[in-house]
Amino acid sequence: MPKIAVLPGDGIGPEIVAEAVKVLKTIEEISGVHFEIDEYLVGGVAIDETGNPLPAETLEACLESDAVLLGAVGGPKWDDLPGNLRPEKALLGLRKELQLFSNLRPVKTYDSLISASTLKPEVIQGVDLLVIRELTGGIYFGEKSTEITENGIKVTDSLTYTEKEIERIVRLGFETAMKRRKKLTSVDKANVLESSRVWRKVVEKVAADYPEVELSHMLVDNCAMQLVRYPKQFDVIVTENMFGDILSDEAAMLTGSIGMLPSASIGTEKVAMYEPIHGSAPDIAGQGLANPLATILSVAMMLKYSFNLNQESEQIEQAVQKVLDAGYRTKDLATTESKIVSTKEMGELVIQAMKDE
Ligand code: NAD
Ligand code: IPM
Ligand code: MN
Repeated sequence: MPKIAVLPGDGIGPEIVAEAVKVLKTIEEISGVHFEIDEYLVGGVAIDETGNPLPAETLEACLESDAVLLGAVGGPKWDDLPGNLRPEKALLGLRKELQLFSNLRPVKTYDSLISASTLKPEVIQGVDLLVIRELTGGIYFGEKSTEITENGIKVTDSLTYTEKEIERIVRLGFETAMKRRKKLTSVDKANVLESSRVWRKVVEKVAADYPEVELSHMLVDNCAMQLVRYPKQFDVIVTENMFGDILSDEAAMLTGSIGMLPSASIGTEKVAMYEPIHGSAPDIAGQGLANPLATILSVAMMLKYSFNLNQESEQIEQAVQKVLDAGYRTKDLATTESKIVSTKEMGELVIQAMKDE
């Protein structure tokens, strides 16, 4: 029986994960597959209960599972803790320990949400792109230091990549592009960063194995602009850790809300992790306002990538589409015509739509 470790975390994490778990249980009911689902502590709640954002029990459970579903971590309560004791450290620790070097963040606009976006309809209609973010290297994991000098504090965050780390994520970019519209944009800052110049060389080397893929290089500042100017030019974007973090939050708005974007973190081992790209949204936590669809769509990605349950995965995606087509929205997506629902109601609507299919 596939084992799923569920880590609700902080802020809106428990609210959105509760709906996603109900969707998993509905899949069990409908299709007869069974999952072993167990919840573990992570992030701020884990700090409060155990003093450690990533307790050994949680890490071990994740290492022994087939897939991990994570809500979100972090919040103002823990913001003054030192870096290695913060809730976010748990997420970074999980990515590193589970060796999840790639993070897939699909950005697809739904026709019924076109009016919910802050961007013009003709710009966003038909957008279907995928950000592939490197997830276990770069400035997130480089050496850090803080020292006192005659100029006050001197602080360093260093950015390191090995050729091997670049090559495996870039290769995934090409492989994925081959299965899509065969267009790959590699995003870097090669006009300034040495690491980006090596990144570009590696991309050029790997490109020789994929002559059918139309490759382009784009500087990250330009990419940030192009994403809102003409997003339909993109198919697959491959980029390093921090650029991918920032560009994917920006790209989320093409869909109308950051509450719509799921992600899959996949690595070298069998276990993969699935989570919405957004955070713990402390400003709306505990009020039933959070959009659970990014987490529900992350479950759809889990079924596809970890369990090869393609039909069940599509069933979830179709149910989401049906509910949106019927005009239901959580507040983040609401326009004057929409029927505003709570987090829980949105979860229930998706489940009902799955049962009706
Ligand atoms: P955030 O993504 O939590 O929130 C940004 C804005 O988007 C807020 O206004 C929030 O209300 C809104 N939002 C986010 N998710 C939403 C949803 N599902 N439905 C409706 N609205 C939603 O980013 P932030 O405010 O910069 O960070 C808050 C905390 O979350 C920080 O502690 C940060 O470190 C953490 N964080 C965690 C993760 C993660 O666990 N994967 C990701 C990003 C940020
Ligand atoms: C994300 C988040 C994380 C990141 C933080 C919480 C460590 O923003 O998953 O996008 O920067 O990777
Ligand atoms: Mn982020």
